[in-house]
Amino acid sequence: TEPLRLALAGLGTVGAGVIRLIETNADLIERRCGRPLRIVAVSARDRGKDRGVDLSGYAWEDDMTALPERDDVDVIVELVGGSDGPALTLARKAVANGKAFVTANKAMIAHHGLGLARDAESAGVPVRFEAAVAGGIPVIKGLREGAAANEIERVYGILNGTCNYILSTMEDTGADFSKVLAEAQAMGYAEADPTFDIDGIDAAHKLSILASIAFGTELDFAAVTTDGIRRVLASDIAQADSLGYVIRLLGMARVEPSADGVKHLFQRVHPYLVPKDHPLAHVDGATNAVVAEGNFVGRLLFQGAGAGDGPTASAVVADIIDIARLWESENEIDPPFSIPVSELDANVPA
Ligand code: NDP
Ligand code: HSE
Repeated sequence: TEPLRLALAGLGTVGAGVIRLIETNADLIERRCGRPLRIVAVSARDRGKDRGVDLSGYAWEDDMTALPERDDVDVIVELVGGSDGPALTLARKAVANGKAFVTANKAMIAHHGLGLARDAESAGVPVRFEAAVAGGIPVIKGLREGAAANEIERVYGILNGTCNYILSTMEDTGADFSKVLAEAQAMGYAEADPTFDIDGIDAAHKLSILASIAFGTELDFAAVTTDGIRRVLASDIAQADSLGYVIRLLGMARVEPSADGVKHLFQRVHPYLVPKDHPLAHVDGATNAVVAEGNFVGRLLFQGAGAGDGPTASAVVADIIDIARLWESENEIDPPFSIPVSELDANVPA
C-alpha cells in the first residue's frame, strides 16, 4: 500500500513529539489508517540543532514555504506558530497546491481560519486543527462528531495550561508568579511569547475556535473580551479560598438573546471564581478541561493534558489519521468547521 506522505514544518516541542509518536506507534497507526505514514521532508530554522530525534532519513528544506511545492508530499503539518508570517504563507500555499493541511496553530486559525476554510472547501482539501484547542483533548472531534446532534447552549473551560499551572501551583505552594511561570516555560507549556498565555490571548484564540465549532457561527476572535492573570495576587487566591472558591482562568461562550431579540454570541476569557465543588475547581497543573452543555446530551466534560509534546502530538497525529481515512473512503466533502463555511451564521456584534 502507498504510504501517506508528510512534510513537517517546525521541529520544536510539538514537532519532535510528532516524530517520536509516528515512529513509536507506526504499526498500530498503519493498521488504523490502512496504510503507513511516512515523513518525507522537514523544516525548521536551525539545521544543526539537536532535537533528540533522528532526522537523517528526511529531506531538509531551509525554506518551509517550499514544502507544498514538493510532488512527493500529500500532507503539510505546520508546527511553527505565529498568526501571520511564514506559517500563514505555508498554509495558503498548501491549500493552493492541493495538499491536506494539519496545524496546532491556534493563533493562525483564530485570525485566518475562516479564510483558510473557504479556500480549502473550494479546493476540496482537508484542513484540520484539533491540537489548536486544549492540546491532547479531542474536544473539536467531540463537538463536531460526538455532540453533532445537539444544540449547544454553553461551552466553557480551562483552555490555557500555563495559566492553570501558575494558578494551581500558587494555590498549593504560595510560590511567586514569575518563578512558577519560568517552570511552565521550562516544561514546554508556554507560547514562544508567554504574554500570550498570561494575558489570556492564547485562551481567547482557542475560545473563538471552540465557539465557532460549537455554535456554527463565523469565527470572530475580535469579539472575545479578554483578561488574563497578570493581576491575580497570592492574597486574592487566599481570599477566594476562605470564601470557598478557587480562581481559574476560564473561556466562556454562550448564545444570549439581546434587547432587540436578536441572538448574540457572548465570548469572554477572564479569571473566574469557581466553587470548590465544581469539577473545574479540581483541574490542576497544565491540565485543560472543557464543559459543553447540549440540549439532548446534557453536560459533557472533556478533560486531559492541554499542552506538552506527547499530548499535543497525539492530537496532531489523530488529524493525520483522520485525513488518511477520509482519502481512503474518497469522501471529499468534510469541511474544517462543523458545517460548510457558507452555512455558518455571522456573529451578532456585542
Ligand atoms: P517551539 O518554539 O518549541 O517550536 C517551533 C519550531 O518552529 C522550531 O522548530 C523552530 O525552529 C521552528 N520555526 C520557528 N520559526 C521558523 C521559521 N521562520 N522557519 C522555519 N521554522 C521556524 O514551539 P511549539 O512546538 O511549542 O509550538 C508549535 C505550535 O504548536 C505553535 O503554534 C503552538 O501554539 C502550538 N501548540 C503548542 C503546544 C505546546 O504544548 N507546546 C500545545 C498546543 C499547540 P528551530 O527549532 O530551528 O528554532
Ligand atoms: N501555551 C499553551 C498553553 C500551549 O499553555 O495552554 C497549549 O496550547
